[in-house]
Amino acid sequence: MLTCYDYATAALCQQAGVDCLLVGDSLAQVVLGHANTLSAGMDIMVTLAAAVRRGAPEAYLVGDMPFLSYQVSTAEAIRNAGRFLVEAGCDAVKLELDHRYDDLVAALARAGIPVMAHLGYRPQMAGQSCRVVETRAAEQACQLVKDAISIVEAGACALLLECVTTAAARAVTQRVEAPVIGCGSGPDCDGQVLVLHDVLGLSGAAQPRFSKTYARLDEAIRQAVSAYLEEVRGRRFPDGEHSYHMKPEDQERFDRSLAGLDRKSQPPKD
Ligand code: KIV
Repeated sequence: MLTCYDYATAALCQQAGVDCLLVGDSLAQVVLGHANTLSAGMDIMVTLAAAVRRGAPEAYLVGDMPFLSYQVSTAEAIRNAGRFLVEAGCDAVKLELDHRYDDLVAALARAGIPVMAHLGYRPQMAGQSCRVVETRAAEQACQLVKDAISIVEAGACALLLECVTTAAARAVTQRVEAPVIGCGSGPDCDGQVLVLHDVLGLSGAAQPRFSKTYARLDEAIRQAVSAYLEEVRGRRFPDGEHSYHMKPEDQERFDRSLAGLDRKSQPPKD
């Protein structure tokens, strides 16, 4: 599983054989340049999820419910979650949760909306906690296991564990039937997700330690853009190959007409 935010990269991810794409609210950071995920609104999430769906019609597509799209009321949560399914063609929605949201998960499941529950470190709650890695303490790890079990019992179809210890992630994965996707949570989950910009080397310095870069597209993009600028400034681009031309007879007639026009008006610039 990878995050994805646009049509072109979705198509490439599908060609590479990805199983699952997440239109994460991390787009507020990696696409829109905000400091955190809180400013990803419903409209942009749904618009970009639809673009990803068009690029990757075969992937299992998960839309991330942004901050305040599900916390205010159950009715609003169902309406917003439904938009991901109806307007964007998502297969499921992801919500950052703990056991206090069991009733909401049940209500969404009752409405026919598959829910991936995001547990562990929850970026939308970052203002309330300075901890990044959850479940280093035994009590916390036990609470995570209990939360995971009760959320799956409430109807979640999958779990995403962010930044929890390997032992806690393993314990959850062994105890719930639903697939468990890890994000900085060790090797024992059923699947893994990373932010695509990290994988492609587009996140600059803002990349968590658990993430891994598989290509340096930042360097490739810088090189391509500076080669383009150099050719344009040196008038080597566009060349004949990248321009449209008239047939010689049309060119001749055109030149004659221009000469006539120039006699009547101003001469051309150099
Ligand atoms: O929004 C996001 O990209 C996420 C990932 C960290 C899994 O939730």
